[in-house]
Amino acid sequence: MAEDTISNIAIAEDEDYVDPWTVTGKSDTGIDYDKLIKRFGSQKIDDELIQRFEKVTGRKAHHLLRRGIFFSHRDLNVIINLHEAGKKFYLYTGRGPSSDSMHLGHMIPFMFTKWLQDVFNVPLIIQLTDDEKVLWRDIKVEDARKMAYNNAKDIIAIGFDPSNTFIFNDLDFIGQCPAFYQNMLRIQKCVTYNQVKGIFGFGDSDVIGKITFPSIEAAPAFSTTFPFIFENKIVHCLVPCAIDQDPYFRMTRDVAVRLKLPKPSLIHSTFLPALQGAQHKMSASDCNASIFLNDTPKQIKNKINKYAFSGGQVTVEEHREKGGNTDVDISYKYLVFFLEDDDKLAEIKKSYESGQMLTGELKKIAIDTITGYVQDYQARRAKVTDEVMHEYFRIRKIVV
Ligand code: TRP
Repeated sequence: MAEDTISNIAIAEDEDYVDPWTVTGKSDTGIDYDKLIKRFGSQKIDDELIQRFEKVTGRKAHHLLRRGIFFSHRDLNVIINLHEAGKKFYLYTGRGPSSDSMHLGHMIPFMFTKWLQDVFNVPLIIQLTDDEKVLWRDIKVEDARKMAYNNAKDIIAIGFDPSNTFIFNDLDFIGQCPAFYQNMLRIQKCVTYNQVKGIFGFGDSDVIGKITFPSIEAAPAFSTTFPFIFENKIVHCLVPCAIDQDPYFRMTRDVAVRLKLPKPSLIHSTFLPALQGAQHKMSASDCNASIFLNDTPKQIKNKINKYAFSGGQVTVEEHREKGGNTDVDISYKYLVFFLEDDDKLAEIKKSYESGQMLTGELKKIAIDTITGYVQDYQARRAKVTDEVMHEYFRIRKIVV
């Protein structure tokens, strides 16, 4: 296959593991993202690119971009060039609904996508891969669909604009959209079993649905999949996603060349760490490792106090002397994701590392920040009725 595709299976014992289904770091500071960039063959987002982004959009970069949480890309320049030339593109992202309520980690790509939608004023397509969860987990078709709708409400509450956002779940939409199936088939015809085996590590005992699934996540990256939106025009696509989704889009980019369609551009985020430490990402299947969007203030407080891994020292005396370690401290890491004020964050870092601020004090700031975020979010979520939701799912022309 072409240059984007690399194999993920041949990695050493002591290396971090990242694929769409498993993420494990080997160090307590978390995944080595620079190494991942090298292994995946993507590009690092450097200061120069951020400056160009700011110059062309006239907007200060989002804190998730400034702080290196969105850290890697493929062909982001192409998107900036298009915008500079006054041309439109579209955004595509998604979520595999695996639990009834989403957690804070799921918010990261969506928070950033909303900002991109505001900055560029472009159409956004959100795919809910309920089919993926049926294939990979012990979940029934009926239940996966229900989860997709619950998750859609969670996503809508982030504040996406209904005039240019289209949301669909695979189990209901694909059957209603012949262009989708036609593009799936075109994609399937470009990729051999050997290639998906190399990219995703599939084996002889994997069910056949898994082997074709990548074509379903790839299809929305081509504008011709949505004739009711793009009227068969070829429009370039930007996919904001967590880095674990990159294998799907390496494949998609290779296929694009063969289909003579534009390669989707990508912008990748790191993972929000689990409460217990940065070796793992926050996961819906472990409720003590995660803060859910429907947690109460009391639950948030208890979880952070009880489980958030601390970079503080064992005794107060030792802490005052040596200071805390923000490289491993989960409460601090959460503030990097959720505390927007740069000055405040810098002050906290200084004070904690010097030993002036104790772990308990840092945890309190993290609890207050996250509780505030979750409560604001819950107020918006309460307003997302079935009626509100259905508007986003309606097959219709959205503003391009
Ligand atoms: N596979 C993703 C998940 O399990 C869901 C998804 C579908 C997605 N399409 C996407 C994520 C595009 C990012 C971008 O969460």
